[in-house]
Amino acid sequence: MTKVYVLNGPNLGRLGTRQVDVYGLTSYAGLVELCERTGRELGLDVEVRQTDAEHELIAWLHEAADEAAAVVLNPAAWSHYSYAVRDACALLRAPLVEVHISNIHTREEFRHHSVVSAVATGVIAGLGVDGYRLALLHLADRLAADRQADE
Ligand code: DQA
Repeated sequence: MTKVYVLNGPNLGRLGTRQVDVYGLTSYAGLVELCERTGRELGLDVEVRQTDAEHELIAWLHEAADEAAAVVLNPAAWSHYSYAVRDACALLRAPLVEVHISNIHTREEFRHHSVVSAVATGVIAGLGVDGYRLALLHLADRLAADRQADE
């Protein structure tokens, strides 16, 4: 089965209680369940992780790069300033979909720019946790098309 990592940055472990007007009522456990269920439906081996430590996220991105695995990434606040996370994303050899639960473009000025977006295959923002499901749907189609092209 095709491996896809769903990686989440700082404070996303607090989903469901954190600024529910912005991020919604789905808990982090609910998000994990949504991604795993979507993965099962799509025939993807989905592994969901969350960290508040930047070096840990970078190590996970290195792991995905080494395995040539696709990644769905919500870099959270690191999106806006972490060149280290961006550089790790640039190492990836399979598609990367950047996801933001909120529409970062309608929020505070400092959230409007993501340093990660320039090295992402695509970006989904503002569709709530459904953005993760849509990212996985896209990856399932795209990875299947890439495999066919290789045959
Ligand atoms: C976020 C948006 C970021 O600006 C914020 O720091 C987050 C979550 C989102 O999913 O909307 O933690 O990435």
